[in-house]
Amino acid sequence: MEKKDQSNGMKRRDFLRAGAVVAASALVIPLSGTKVFGALSATQAKNLIPAVKLNNGIQMPMLGFGTNTLTGDIGERCVADAISVGYRLVDTAHIYGNEEAVGAGIKKSGITREELFVTSKLWVDDAGYESAKKAFQTTLNKLGLEYLDLYLIHRPRGDVKGSWKAMEELYEAGKIRAIGVSNFDSDQLAELMSYAKIKPVINQIETHVFFQDHKSHEDLKKTSVQMEAWSPFAAGRNAIFSNPTLAAIGKKHTKSIAQVCLRWHFQRGVVAIPRSSQKAHMIENLAIFDFELDNSDMQTIATLDLNKTQFPEWG
Ligand SMILES: NC(=O)c1ccc[n+]([C@@H]2O[C@H](COP(=O)([O-])OP(=O)(O)OC[C@H]3O[C@@H](n4cnc5c(N)ncnc54)[C@H](OP(=O)(O)O)[C@@H]3O)[C@@H](O)[C@H]2O)c1
Repeated sequence: MEKKDQSNGMKRRDFLRAGAVVAASALVIPLSGTKVFGALSATQAKNLIPAVKLNNGIQMPMLGFGTNTLTGDIGERCVADAISVGYRLVDTAHIYGNEEAVGAGIKKSGITREELFVTSKLWVDDAGYESAKKAFQTTLNKLGLEYLDLYLIHRPRGDVKGSWKAMEELYEAGKIRAIGVSNFDSDQLAELMSYAKIKPVINQIETHVFFQDHKSHEDLKKTSVQMEAWSPFAAGRNAIFSNPTLAAIGKKHTKSIAQVCLRWHFQRGVVAIPRSSQKAHMIENLAIFDFELDNSDMQTIATLDLNKTQFPEWG
C-alpha cells in the first residue's frame, strides 16, 4: 500500500515529485539574492508548491505569502517579488491597510488571475449582514479584482451569523470561491457550523513550533476544515531564528531554521503563509519540498511547544 505522508491525501510520490522540481530550481537559483527567478511558467509554478483540496473541492496551495505590515510601495514590491519567485497564494486583510498595494503587486507581476489564490478577511468593525457585503466590495475594489479565492471572518466578534449569511450569498453568487474563518476556537466553530448552510473551508489560526495547538489541529481534522497557520515563524518571537534545537535539525538536513519550521507545518498538513520583505528569504522559504523531517525530528520539535500564544496582546 502506498504510504501517505501528509494528511489531506497527498501521497509520498506526489510531494517528492514537487520536491524534485524545487530541488532542480535550486540548482540555478542561489539563495544569496544575487540571481533571482524570472517569471515562472504556469506549469512550473503549479508544480512548485503542492496543493490541498478544500472541503468544497477547490485546490489551495499548501504554502503562501503573508503580507501583514507590508504596505505601500514595499507591499507592492514584495507581492510582485513573491509571485515572481513562485508563490501563488497571497494572504491579505482589510485591517492590514495594504489591499491596494497587494492589488498593485499582483498587477505588476503580470500573472493571470486564474493562477493566483487570493485571500482577504472581513474585519470586526464590518461584522453583520449589510456591512459585510459592503466591506467585501470595498476589498475587491481595493485589490482591483473581480472575485476572491478565499474570504475569512477575521475574528469571531460581533454579528458573526449575519456576516456568514452575507458571505454565503457572495459565495453562491460566484464572487468568492471559498469562505472560512480565522481565530475561531473549536466551540466558536461548532456554533457557526450549527447554522451554516455552507461549511467553512479554513480556520486560519496562530500556530508555530511554540504554540502547536494540538486540540485545534485534531478538531479541525475531524470536521474536514483545513488548518492554516498564521505567523508560522511566530513573527520571529521567542528567538525562533536562533533556536538551538531547530538549528541542530536544520544542520542535519542542510536546511535553515525557517525551512525546518515550514517543513514541520507542511508535514502536519497545515497551510502556512510566511511573510518576508526579502526576496532571498522568499526563495529560501519555498525550498522545503526536497527533504523530510523524520520521526525523531518531529518528536524533538514537539518538545518546543509552550502551549500558549506568543501574541498575548491580541487576545
Ligand atoms: N488571521 C490573523 O489574525 C493573522 C494574524 C497574524 C498574521 N496573519 C497572516 O500570517 C502572515 C504571517 O505571519 P507574520 O507576518 O505575523 O509573521 P511570520 O511569517 O511568522 O514571520 C515573519 C518574520 O520572519 C522573518 N523571516 C521570513 N523568512 C525568513 C527566513 N527565511 N529567515 C529569517 N527570517 C525570516 C521576516 O523577516 P524578513 O522580512 O527580514 O524576511 C519577518 O520578520 C501575516 O503576514 C498575515 O498574512 C494572520
